[in-house]
Amino acid sequence: MPSERDKDLRDDSVLDSLLASTACSMRDALRTIDRNACGIAFIVDSDRLLHGVVTDGDIRRAILNGLSPETPVTEFMTRSPISVCEEVPTEKIIGLMSEGIKYVPVVDEHKRVVDYAAFTQAVHLPVASPAFSGNELRYVTECVLTNWISSRGRFVTEFERTFAKFCGVKHGITASNGTVALHLALVLAGVGPGDEVIVPTLTFVATANAVRYTGATPIFADSNPVTWTLDPAEVERRITKRTKAVIPVHLYGHPCDMDPIMDLARRHRLVVIEDAAEAHGAMYRGKRVGSIGHVGCFSFFGNKIITTGEGGMLTTNDDGLAERARVLRDHGMSQTERYWHETVGFNYRLTNLQAAVGVAQMERIETLLAQRAAVGRCYKELLKDDQRVELPREVPWARPVTWLYTVLLRDGINRDQIIKRMESVGVDSRPCFHPVHSLPPYAVQARFPVAEALSRRGLSLPTWAPMRQDQIERICRTLLDCLPAR
Ligand SMILES: Cc1ncc(COP(=O)(O)O)c(C=O)c1O
Repeated sequence: MPSERDKDLRDDSVLDSLLASTACSMRDALRTIDRNACGIAFIVDSDRLLHGVVTDGDIRRAILNGLSPETPVTEFMTRSPISVCEEVPTEKIIGLMSEGIKYVPVVDEHKRVVDYAAFTQAVHLPVASPAFSGNELRYVTECVLTNWISSRGRFVTEFERTFAKFCGVKHGITASNGTVALHLALVLAGVGPGDEVIVPTLTFVATANAVRYTGATPIFADSNPVTWTLDPAEVERRITKRTKAVIPVHLYGHPCDMDPIMDLARRHRLVVIEDAAEAHGAMYRGKRVGSIGHVGCFSFFGNKIITTGEGGMLTTNDDGLAERARVLRDHGMSQTERYWHETVGFNYRLTNLQAAVGVAQMERIETLLAQRAAVGRCYKELLKDDQRVELPREVPWARPVTWLYTVLLRDGINRDQIIKRMESVGVDSRPCFHPVHSLPPYAVQARFPVAEALSRRGLSLPTWAPMRQDQIERICRTLLDCLPAR
């Protein structure tokens, strides 16, 4: 009778492709592995009795040891492989698996192979997963069938139009990724050698790297302990005569407190570039992020709220800036005279193929955001009563989005050990970023106590749209089981 585990883990069409005979050679086993694309063959006799397993790694090592492709598989297979019997509960099987062991034979009481367990999503919960259940394939196919595969085509303009509308700005300008969108924004702001740009130290390294690309110096500032984003008071302390711009980062989907930053920018004539790579759709006092500063920058990397594989976007209400952005991302070429290059520009264009995915994602962005919000609520409900875990806090002026649901572990808990323990039972998680000032290319000696504590304690849990309730329950159960006793 099919059990719950059977339903989740088994694919009958795959089982046969995993089996190879005890009579086969290395060449035959390699053919089996090549066909099943699982990296492993279960070696069985004519009664399906399990004698061993061979992985692609075993074959590689056998060849390096000088064995010929005609060597009988029984000479180099693993003779006592991990296997489980039919009654073993799913949780126990999960415990046996890892990135290294992805397929385990399931045997009956006579050691006959009757099934297999796979390290698929039923077992392995990744930190992020894209949601391609809309028109993505259809639109990409249209690009391929019509030959509009490069950086011109209807999807590029459509993606820019729909994304700008979504953010409530006049212009969206696509770019190859979020990092070059930031670089372009800084170049547009006139940032160059000798200038300073204030950035939070707690961010993904790309924020600071983009500053470095221009020859300017990133000046690191600490975070607010409630929102985990750039602290406006910290920005004010760091403004000098050289300060040209500031990059508030809407980290983990939470908006920065933009009003005081915009106020400082007006008083000191600074350009504000919002790094909204992780916060598509988040609202600050009724406005979408990316519409508040002079320019907004987004990423569409595979783990983002919407994705185009790699991709980025600048958003702005400034007509002149938008026009210059289009010129600069396209080799500095005049928009009216072909091959007339007014300036040294870049090739930072997004392809129509990528934009096709983006247009399909935009058709469902509100649904994706709602599904992610539901994931956030579910995590909150399941974790709220445990003192070992501190949940993201809420402020009245922000409506964050759930990018990666990120919690703080109680100080003193070895976060990296928890990540390893969770991984060993199939649940991926992610440490918070290292503060950029502590990384080798920057190596700033000053202390940033809030960012350092958040970085040490922060743990991002699997988040995608839509996630099933039982998946979130399993993640929370795993996390709480892995934490030291209260
Ligand atoms: C805060 C932040 N800024 C910038 C980037 C860079 O975006 P991309 O990976 O698209 O270059 C990322 C993305 O990972 C990010 O999280």
